[in-house]
Amino acid sequence: MTVTTPLVAGNWKMNTTVEEGVKLAEAVRLGTEGLKGVEVAVLPPFTHLRPVYDEIGHSHVQLGAQDVFWETKGAFTGEVSPLMLAGWCEHALVGHSERRHILGETDREVGRKLAAALAAGLHGILAVGELEEERFAGEWVTVIDRQLHSALEFLPQPPTPGQYVIAYEPCWAIGTGRTATPEQAHEVCAHIKAWLTERTGAAPRVLYGGSVTPDNAASLFAETAIDGALVGGASLRAEQFTAIVTAAAPGARVG
Ligand code: 13P
Repeated sequence: MTVTTPLVAGNWKMNTTVEEGVKLAEAVRLGTEGLKGVEVAVLPPFTHLRPVYDEIGHSHVQLGAQDVFWETKGAFTGEVSPLMLAGWCEHALVGHSERRHILGETDREVGRKLAAALAAGLHGILAVGELEEERFAGEWVTVIDRQLHSALEFLPQPPTPGQYVIAYEPCWAIGTGRTATPEQAHEVCAHIKAWLTERTGAAPRVLYGGSVTPDNAASLFAETAIDGALVGGASLRAEQFTAIVTAAAPGARVG
């Protein structure tokens, strides 16, 4: 993992059976094989992580969990510890808008999860993003700053750019087909980088997420502040996901 190579991660959410997931992972592995200058990750449901790991093995496709708990072990029924993932699963997504807004996760809980993930040596994918009404009210800066601030609050020291990425996912663009314009996405991603540079000394990669498709990927990746994508719906179709990964790769396919 480098901090300058674009990263395209597929968040499968609560989709696919184990068997379908393994097939999808295989298709992603084959479809993106030989692409240079881009990192690829899949984030299957917890039940699929080990079989998908067995399928992608030590290939170029990285593996991530869609969530993680803030404690490392104990009486926390149904939760998954970062220690259960560390060593074989590279990424842990925290703060996805569906967890914040459907499951009621707070900024504080997201911060504790990020701290636990990084402490276990996982690479964090921290999702942030404003609601539609917050954007209309001109409040996106306040919301994003608050989410970033509380996410960093529980870390013992400022994170290095290699330890995590930010995924900017405006809630109004998730699963709606209403992608942010490249200019809107760039503006927020650039703001996130400036904010983190000021507070931590350096900015990590910032991904955009929200209705990314093969049709709009290239125009988003053309923006200098956007270092890849967190893809939902289109990551469930191997050919669409592969096309998005290809759009993020600076060079042509090799071999
Ligand atoms: P969609 O690509 O389906 O809009 O989902 C984005 C997302 O939430 C990725 O985490």
